[in-house]
Amino acid sequence: MDLEDLPGVGKSIAEKLREAGLHSLESIAAASISELKEVGIGESSAIKIINAARKRLNMGFETGLEVMKKREKIGKLTTGSKEFDRLLGGGIETQAITEFFGKFGSGKTQLGHQLSVNVQLPRERGGLEGNAVYIDTENTFRPERIQQMAKYLELDPEETLKNIYVARAYNSDHQMLLAEKASEIAKEYNIKLVVVDSLTAHFRAEYTGRSALAERQQKLNRLLHILQRKIADLHNIAVVVTNQVMARPDVLFGDPTAPIGGHIVGHTATFRVYLRKGKGDKRIARLIDSPNLPEAECIFEVTVDGIRDVE
Ligand code: GTP
Ligand code: MG
Repeated sequence: MDLEDLPGVGKSIAEKLREAGLHSLESIAAASISELKEVGIGESSAIKIINAARKRLNMGFETGLEVMKKREKIGKLTTGSKEFDRLLGGGIETQAITEFFGKFGSGKTQLGHQLSVNVQLPRERGGLEGNAVYIDTENTFRPERIQQMAKYLELDPEETLKNIYVARAYNSDHQMLLAEKASEIAKEYNIKLVVVDSLTAHFRAEYTGRSALAERQQKLNRLLHILQRKIADLHNIAVVVTNQVMARPDVLFGDPTAPIGGHIVGHTATFRVYLRKGKGDKRIARLIDSPNLPEAECIFEVTVDGIRDVE
């Protein structure tokens, strides 16, 4: 079924929609009225087009059985550490956003690298037999590190690198576009993992001060929506985002840090994992408010070979 089959969508409008990254019925069904207005479509036509796309896709309600069928497709991706996998209920899940937050050096980027390698493994080794998209905002993606990890797993280092699609995001707008792009290429390139490292750094740098806070949160919310609906749900992909923590001078007892992005990121991410440094190579992961798993901790190691269980 083509875009042209939607009511009021002729060749030229279909072209404009595609140029704006809306290639499929799914993406139009998930689009907002304002997104279509930006393309130059009037409000009432926009409503008609979106509704028609939703109707065709039977969006909205689904039966409990359909929900169950969809959940049966959830894949689990190994972190490289059995203890860590156990903490997450078997590994990083597809159809969900997993957030790693922690201070510098806590292992967020290392995990992003390791998962980009592991996703390529066969299912019996904890992989998803797919490829990775890596959206890098801090220029910390290191091919050499991928090669080390691949070698340890007896994968071909060059092949492994070929299966990771890396894009450097220059600012928050660019980051939004890259997320849209990732959704578009997901099927063609057999993407099973999307890493956004870091989710919040650009937003934090661009929207400073209290007055910009609402705008920042709104935009961050839009990005998370794209990641959840157009990537994780639509293509059965595991989405992993990293998030720094900032000092909270108002906290006198306990941990005086808080993740950037606050509540919106907190409520959208299905799994939130707080990482902190232990002795030497050791790292501590704490699972925080998961919908169906208890809050708990585990210890793992970041070694030359990658993420491992502690010996
Ligand atoms: P920020 O992005 O700065 O917030 O930190 P991050 O949480 O992304 O930290 P990252 O994942 O980059 O962790 C860096 C740490 O991983 C280093 O300080 C090392 O301790 C460890 N690490 C990185 N590469 C290697 C390696 O090849 N061998 C070992 N043993 N450790 C490594
Ligand atoms: Mg990092």
